Amino acid sequence: MNDAIRPQPGIMDIALYEGGKAAIAGVTNVLKLSSNENPFGPSDKAKDAFARSVHNLHRYPSTDHANLRQAIAEVHGLDAARVICGVGSDEIITFLCQAYAGAKDEVVFTEHGFLMYRISALAAGATPVEVAERERTTDVDAILKACNRRTKLVFIANPNNPTGTMISAAEIERLADGLPPQAILVLDGAYAEFVEGFDAGLALIESRTNVVMTRTFSKIYGLGGLRIGWGYGPKQIIDVLNRIRGPFNLSNTQLDTAEAAVRDQDYVNRCRNDNARMRSWLAQALAELGIPSDTSLANFILARFASPEEAEACDLFLQKQGLIVRRVASYKLPQCLRITVGDEASCRRVVHAIAQFKGVK
Ligand SMILES: Cc1ncc(COP(=O)(O)O)c(C=O)c1O
Repeated sequence: MNDAIRPQPGIMDIALYEGGKAAIAGVTNVLKLSSNENPFGPSDKAKDAFARSVHNLHRYPSTDHANLRQAIAEVHGLDAARVICGVGSDEIITFLCQAYAGAKDEVVFTEHGFLMYRISALAAGATPVEVAERERTTDVDAILKACNRRTKLVFIANPNNPTGTMISAAEIERLADGLPPQAILVLDGAYAEFVEGFDAGLALIESRTNVVMTRTFSKIYGLGGLRIGWGYGPKQIIDVLNRIRGPFNLSNTQLDTAEAAVRDQDYVNRCRNDNARMRSWLAQALAELGIPSDTSLANFILARFASPEEAEACDLFLQKQGLIVRRVASYKLPQCLRITVGDEASCRRVVHAIAQFKGVK
């Protein structure tokens, strides 16, 4: 032990991130519904691009990601010069904290917000500030009240993980307009594609100088294992983030696969429709078993049990049957289980098991 060697302040306050479980000892035929993955995986076009990328493994990748940025810009109607790509949207969140928040600065997020906001704030030496939600929904007034001269970043996931709830464009606009002048509003759109007709806040970004969006290929695109995300915002902010981005942060394989994936919007639309259909079936089936949930706009349901003990008992029962869902006590929701919307067979399997747990034949 060498007491003279110490990490930067804040680092030891970081609790290690625990991902969704992927295996259960001694159980085969495991069904993983714990990480909000697309049950159908990526599109065939993305898989073909992935396979073709093997021919380029000896080449360094592009440093400016021009082709992927152009594809994203064309599909979403954006300015390619203001798109930045990263190793998952996690990396864009990290860049934002590193670039804009340091000692004595505050990073604001909500009570049941994504854990990486706190981790990235602490890693940058900043102070995380957690704001209460109202009925598991972002409370704009509470956020505005928590902001002050030290606030540098405000993170909102819309829809939010793990609650699945979202707030209206008018509420987001009120938040952007009410922030102190030095604060950036970050709209985390990891689940935006699951919402029919939702622009994820793009209109707001185009009309403001203080709003940035993050997006991911990990959810509807089914590429969580490959780690690709992107951000969009004012040129001035994206230029800053590019200064701390490693020049080769994305491989040829990541870039080519993501480009093919984003150009295949037919696949995205099919996945969105299928998710919406199975999500309402799952929510309804759970409600009939006496397990309520808030209306989810994402690819998971936050099932609310009577008590933390019942949620834990149900989780253990499901694990014995080879079903992995997500405990969300670390999100301050100990009485809940987050269940990813799977394909029809998976949804039926999990509902059948929960019915058995509840003693319903
Ligand atoms: C709200 C939210 N934001 C961001 C991410 C990060 O996604 P990735 O780094 O895979 O792009 C996740 C992943 O679960 C998420 O739930």
